[in-house]
Amino acid sequence: MRTDDDSWEITESVGATALGVAAMRAAETRRDDALFHDPYAERLVRATGSSGWTRLLDGDFARRRQELGRAGAGNGAFLVGRTVYFDEYFAAATAAGLRQVVILAAGLDARAYRLEWPSGTVLFELDQPKVLAFKAEALTGVAPAVDRREVAVDLRHDWPKALRDNGFDTSAPTAWLAEGLLRYLPADALDRLFDNIDGLAAPGSRIALNTGQVRSRRSEHERAARTKLLADIGIELDMDNLWYDEDNRSDPADWFAGHGWTVSTTSLAEVLAAHGRTGTADETADIDRHTLLTAIRG
Ligand SMILES: C[S@@+](CC[C@H](N)C(=O)[O-])C[C@H]1O[C@@H](n2cnc3c(N)ncnc32)[C@H](O)[C@@H]1O
Repeated sequence: MRTDDDSWEITESVGATALGVAAMRAAETRRDDALFHDPYAERLVRATGSSGWTRLLDGDFARRRQELGRAGAGNGAFLVGRTVYFDEYFAAATAAGLRQVVILAAGLDARAYRLEWPSGTVLFELDQPKVLAFKAEALTGVAPAVDRREVAVDLRHDWPKALRDNGFDTSAPTAWLAEGLLRYLPADALDRLFDNIDGLAAPGSRIALNTGQVRSRRSEHERAARTKLLADIGIELDMDNLWYDEDNRSDPADWFAGHGWTVSTTSLAEVLAAHGRTGTADETADIDRHTLLTAIRG
């Protein structure tokens, strides 16, 4: 259950969702036809020292899922598609000349280490203090490919001050990213987040995010089966209790369009198809409910 001021370690609550994403990136990286390579994902997950997460990396969850048929399906294709989309978003943003980057809720995102960045680029990673501390410890000795700055904050609070205090230039156009974040914020915090981004975004700034139905079309039974399957291998992660799905949540496309940004959206299915990847029928239900959005401030 969430509370207004909750915080977490990497293996707890919302922190564990960052591990889930990293575990998927590790799995994709191992494929012969991988759509991206994240050489740090596996190291980050193993750094938990948790047998459950190690078992997930080593294929226990996938094997058990197969044994059970559809019940407890994962969401690999969704996470792969969005990773590719946001990698390409940053390539386009830097090609357009942007040299300031803000990754909101960076979690175990290793783009600061694994992507190529033009010299002079400054990249800010924002997340909760214990999540950033875990990542720094796990990647000790690895040099980022960019001027990477950690900003330990709660994104429901006054994070713009902390960002400015770390050298954010309000006059420079910025490439913002909110990947896998929105549904973990209550409706009022989501509006404040958008207001804050809008207030800090110089003309020419961009934002990319994923959005969509919070609840899966999967049955209660299937969701419960997934939670149980994770628990069976030693992972306590009940995603349905981490999300907010109030009726009054702002639609990001409407919000940014209404504030003078030019919005374009893409479906995950389109991104995956453009890279020759088709989801299984099982994954399609997940894929269909997500939208990828990029907006540019004129
Ligand atoms: C699903 S993970 C996504 C991580 C990363 N963006 C990625 O795709 O690999 C969600 C992340 O949001 C962060 N997060 C959620 N709510 C937050 C808040 N109120 N303040 C700071 N970080 C938050 C969590 O700590 C976690 O790292």
